Amino acid sequence: MKRQQQQRPLLLGDYEEVYELLATEKNRNEQELLRQVKHLQENFVGSGGKAFTYDEESASAYGIYYMPTNFQKWRSLFERVAIEEEWQWQQGTFIDVGMGPGTYTLAFLDSLDASFTGKVVALESSLFMQQMAQKCFHHFFPRETKGSSWYAHLREISEREVMTWPSPKILFFGNSITEMGTEAALKIESVIDPDFLCFIEPGTSDFFYRFALPLRSVLLQRGYHTLFPCTKIGGTACPFLRQQKQMTANRWCHQVCQTELPLPWQRLSQKLKIDRRYLPYQGHLYAKNAKKQMRDSTSLSSGRPLRFLEDQKGLTTFQLCSKEEILTVEVLKRGLSKSAEKRLKRLLVGDTILYSLDKIFTKGSMQISRINIHSINGEKLSDEN
Ligand SMILES: C[S@@+](CC[C@H](N)C(=O)[O-])C[C@H]1O[C@@H](n2cnc3c(N)ncnc32)[C@H](O)[C@@H]1O
Repeated sequence: MKRQQQQRPLLLGDYEEVYELLATEKNRNEQELLRQVKHLQENFVGSGGKAFTYDEESASAYGIYYMPTNFQKWRSLFERVAIEEEWQWQQGTFIDVGMGPGTYTLAFLDSLDASFTGKVVALESSLFMQQMAQKCFHHFFPRETKGSSWYAHLREISEREVMTWPSPKILFFGNSITEMGTEAALKIESVIDPDFLCFIEPGTSDFFYRFALPLRSVLLQRGYHTLFPCTKIGGTACPFLRQQKQMTANRWCHQVCQTELPLPWQRLSQKLKIDRRYLPYQGHLYAKNAKKQMRDSTSLSSGRPLRFLEDQKGLTTFQLCSKEEILTVEVLKRGLSKSAEKRLKRLLVGDTILYSLDKIFTKGSMQISRINIHSINGEKLSDEN
């Protein structure tokens, strides 16, 4: 039976439907599913830049295991960078490269308030993965994905065809740059010539230094501007590029997503001894036609926490990336309302904060900026109550 449209957005319970759709005969056995996920983990997660051949069992296990967390990574990224109405993504073309079982296209369709009238394009080399994605599309978003196009290789896409796709074109990579490498990703970019380019990839230092930074440099040369995670409008100089010599394992830009998993998925993760409550990822969003896509509408500064240093009773200290600088900042809890203090406690690496500077002082050899946070991910840090 087809899912009713009005049931959107997808809720945690819906993942059981995903399981029913994607589980193969073998993967209905929990031991077999665990074995498959372990195999995927060993060969993919964190390995960086390694191609992997998916068969029916591994494609099914991938979809079942990663669907809920990828969904939540998408939500986490777009909570931090709100999709602007004028971007008109609901009328555009969403091109999912290395679509896998469709996790991110489903999350994209699910996240749009207005219903989607544009086009979905899949570029996915594994036919097993294509089959998994098609099952999910037919079940969850049959109308939105009816006119979608499916390609296994870039060479099957002609530039003439690309010109017929509705604008804007959003080129998306989800955990696929790490498999295909930056060169292949850039080749795809030059054929598609999108208005937006977005990726959500593993939150490792390896991905940051080997893939994200080189890719970012070329994209900026090709006329893109970063909408996320960089906080300087029109900026180009990532502070980590300047500090690369001092790079250590815990110095890189990434985001963290707090997840909520349905019970069967929690059990799977416990059995695999993988803690999936807080997941690191790297989400980047670039736009061409910068004048239209960028504005700085507030007098407040914006920044993103990179690393938490200390949380004491009266103050919290963290590193903040703001306007191409890495600052050590402290926030006094004194004077905050209970609800503001609670919200501050839930602040995560990668969140978007708007703040004003209170004062700058030195503590030992460190320069500290004391700041007042006005909002976190657009949610005002209220001083009421
Ligand atoms: C780790 S999976 C990610 C799937 C999905 N995007 C997700 O995050 O759930 C990577 C996918 O990229 C596909 N892939 C790798 N290299 C590719 C290429 N050159 N062209 C198209 N697809 C590719 C693989 O077949 C695989 O399905």
